Amino acid sequence: MKHFLSINDIDSLPNWVNEARSLKKNPHNHKALGAEKTIGLLFFNNSLRTRLSTQKAAMNLGMEVMVMNFGNEGWALEYADGTIMDQGASEHIKEAAQVVSQYCDIIGIRAFASLNDKAKDEAEVVLNGFKKYATVPIVNMESSVGHPLQAFTDAITLAENTSKVNPKVVLSWAPHPKALPHAVANSFIQMMQMQEVDFVITHPKGYELDPNITKGVRVEYNQRKACENADFIYVKNWSSYSNYGMVLNQDPQWMITKAKLGNAKFMHCLPVRRNVIVEDEVLDSDQSLVIEQANNRTFAAQLVLKKMLENLK
Ligand code: CP
Repeated sequence: MKHFLSINDIDSLPNWVNEARSLKKNPHNHKALGAEKTIGLLFFNNSLRTRLSTQKAAMNLGMEVMVMNFGNEGWALEYADGTIMDQGASEHIKEAAQVVSQYCDIIGIRAFASLNDKAKDEAEVVLNGFKKYATVPIVNMESSVGHPLQAFTDAITLAENTSKVNPKVVLSWAPHPKALPHAVANSFIQMMQMQEVDFVITHPKGYELDPNITKGVRVEYNQRKACENADFIYVKNWSSYSNYGMVLNQDPQWMITKAKLGNAKFMHCLPVRRNVIVEDEVLDSDQSLVIEQANNRTFAAQLVLKKMLENLK
């Protein structure tokens, strides 16, 4: 594996989950692998978990870590070829990616969707710009359309919390005051399609995700019905895909409550808005896996970096 750009870069999900669970038991066993290697983590958007867990993962492997809040502190980048750069952008991705590659052996990129230009978002201009012009491997730390490190983490957390064959997993939309991207939901769905699960998505009408991603997946518009007898309820807000980036519904009836949860385990990638997405009683219960999910971010990232470092040798 050279780059880790999407969930499709995982060649065998069961093997990767098992390897990550082994790393979790002995996180410091491969310290020599990253010696004299540097990872650069470039953030075009905010982060808590991705920033610290990827840094921790790299440190567990003996790497040096450089972090830059590129969105606030870097030069504004131009991505198009042949542009007369007399407007806002000060530097072209061609130079920036090559320069960063001289300082780093691996580059992590976080660059969210704009949610105002679907074509540009789906072209993944930032991630693909670095992929095209960097001379070192690239890790996707959440891009416009995917968050594969989160989805891999979620696969680890699911495996740790069930021994059931074909568990029922529900991906439920929940309300949020702001327009949020589709990346977490997209990668979660793709990860579900790589597993033996009884999978259903529930959301209000108008919140259908990219049909190329949801193809063949059951959608149930009645949230209570969808959640019946679930083993896991994974909750996430996303903005409309067809009415790109719009907030069409803020109905509090879609919030996840203890009654809807039943005996299921609650999952969310965090950050989460209490009593908007999910009520306190759920988050504060033993049925919530959110803290363990955040913990597993380290071991998901660590396995990805380990495979990249092995490939560099
Ligand atoms: N789940 C997740 O990616 O968290 P951050 O946005 O805080 O990194």
